[in-house]
Amino acid sequence: MSTVDETRMTLSIHPSAEQTGEAAASEVAALVQCHPAAVLGLATGSSPLPLYEALAKNEVDLAAVTAFALDEYIGLPPGHPQSYAAVIGHHVVEPLGMTPGRVHVPDGNPRDEHRSGEAYEAAIGAAGGIDLQILGIGSNGHIGFNEPGAAFSSRTRVVRLAERTRQDNARFFAAPEDVPTHAMTQGLATIFEARHLLLIAHGRGKATAIKRALTGPVTEDFPASLLQLHPRTSLFLDSEAASLLES
Ligand code: GLP
Repeated sequence: MSTVDETRMTLSIHPSAEQTGEAAASEVAALVQCHPAAVLGLATGSSPLPLYEALAKNEVDLAAVTAFALDEYIGLPPGHPQSYAAVIGHHVVEPLGMTPGRVHVPDGNPRDEHRSGEAYEAAIGAAGGIDLQILGIGSNGHIGFNEPGAAFSSRTRVVRLAERTRQDNARFFAAPEDVPTHAMTQGLATIFEARHLLLIAHGRGKATAIKRALTGPVTEDFPASLLQLHPRTSLFLDSEAASLLES
């Protein structure tokens, strides 16, 4: 492991996505072993899947953990297999033996989106805040669904998805036009308040975004650059995602 900045960011690079997931899972497991009722933030997308798979093989008991998903598409029918509620249920809650009632996902069909966002923020606060937030990164630097231009002060709210994000995520849907145009996402301020951020990325397609997030200017034009300011961030990368970083 090498340290980019001793006070802020640790960087852990592994030969494969699978090994990256195992290393990241160890960090999550260590937290839960010390704090069985820890509060986790959960990312979706393909990046954290090796972490969840490795964690499922770990002996750690996650039944007392509370969790908050980062985001949810707006407008998919409840139970749609690509809704993040369904994805979290299938890839996280069931294999990890989490308690379904303790796992929260933003409402993708809110009657009042403003209130729904506020209620999600309140629930995170009532749980004592997020101890460890798992993050992926979009190829355009988004975290959660906070697209380029999102305010660092943003809170949980409904956002319009960037076309690039809709194209990136079209692989999960039958047709590109089926990708929702909007999502409810934790805001950048919400994410930043987590006590520990854990970002996982693998594959050559993330190399440019990782380089910009870690070494580019801290700017709302590239949301993941906010990680440079966080007091505790752990990055788990495979060698392809890390390939554009100077050694
Ligand atoms: C998705 C999610 C993000 C995720 C990112 C990367 O759209 N909203 O939380 O981190 O985009 O996705 P993937 O890991 O599949 O590349």
